[in-house]
Amino acid sequence: MLNLGVIGTNWITDQFIAAALSTKKYRLSSVYSRNFTTAKQFAAKYQGKINLFTDLAVFFQDKKLDVVYIASPNSLHFAQAKQAILAGKSVIVEKPAFSTREEMDEIIKLANKQRVFFFEAARNLHEQSFAEIKKFLESNGEIQGASFHYAKYSSRMDKVLAGEEPNIFSLKFSGGALYDLGVYQVYAALGWFGVPSFVHYFATLASTGIDSMGTGVLRYENFDVTIQPGKNIKSFAPSEIFLAKGTLVLDAISAINSADYYEREKDVKSLKINALANPMVEEAEAFAQVLLHPKSEVWGAKYEEWVELARNVNAVLVAMREDAGIVFAADGKR
Ligand SMILES: NC(=O)c1ccc[n+]([C@@H]2O[C@H](COP(=O)([O-])OP(=O)(O)OC[C@H]3O[C@@H](n4cnc5c(N)ncnc54)[C@H](OP(=O)(O)O)[C@@H]3O)[C@@H](O)[C@H]2O)c1
Repeated sequence: MLNLGVIGTNWITDQFIAAALSTKKYRLSSVYSRNFTTAKQFAAKYQGKINLFTDLAVFFQDKKLDVVYIASPNSLHFAQAKQAILAGKSVIVEKPAFSTREEMDEIIKLANKQRVFFFEAARNLHEQSFAEIKKFLESNGEIQGASFHYAKYSSRMDKVLAGEEPNIFSLKFSGGALYDLGVYQVYAALGWFGVPSFVHYFATLASTGIDSMGTGVLRYENFDVTIQPGKNIKSFAPSEIFLAKGTLVLDAISAINSADYYEREKDVKSLKINALANPMVEEAEAFAQVLLHPKSEVWGAKYEEWVELARNVNAVLVAMREDAGIVFAADGKR
């Protein structure tokens, strides 16, 4: 059983805990919050003895703690993950794990040195649909292009319009549409098609300086992939992958429920997609397998693949926002 500690007390942490507990491989052992009352109220929803902390250094000193789930604002992930790893803990870091290439490289190196694991919680990568689509693409002819959409009007957008600066809309906290919903789209592109040779990002900037929406192009040798993340609009468009003889239509790019192949002049073929009610269960299960079987060659190889993908996704995200002239506070910290 893995002893899980959590940082961040927003709804996403509850969703991850529910996923982790459902695997029966984790128990919630500690909660960190900047505020004791918040930690107490958060932990009250769960059973068992849960230690509460308001001091990160003390939180990490807990010898029983195996792994820490970090769901704080993006720009805080690096310092918190570094502190955890130096204390000998494995980390599950919410997407996007880090703001810059340097942060990503440092954490990967440090985790290897400390013999602990670093996971980026990019949940679509671990969904059953992701591997199913990958397998389908490998045996269905040359890719001609793809178009991914994921845009939701954020509950915090009204605050931006009222002149406020919520974390996810802030350059200080490495926010923006690309560094939120765009992460899933970049994971899909790199996970299915590999690393692009060139990227471009046209951003529509909010008053706070981040991209409230944007259009990205990932150029591959023989085709292009467009992505469209947004936080100030809602997109109802599906995502599509164009193949030589047909089109694969996905209802979404994360939490995928359907993948239908429209081959020219043939019937529609639906891929077998088994979507879970909580889309974080598969990642929680996969991370537990690595943590519980650190010597497994199979899980070790998967882990290396995820880390390399996380590094490449990070590099693409950085290149895209550099192209759009989006400068985070984290860029100046080194
Ligand atoms: N995988 C997914 O589906 C998914 C969904 C949503 C979000 N996320 C990711 O989860 C992370 C958190 O997102 P969020 O929207 O929940 O962020 P958030 O509401 O801005 O902050 C999350 C938590 O961090 C702490 N926090 C807030 N402001 C802080 C500050 N200024 N300094 C230190 N700590 C602060 C708060 O916990 P305390 O008050 O208890 O300290 C808060 O509950 C992001 O990386 C985001 O991309 C992932």
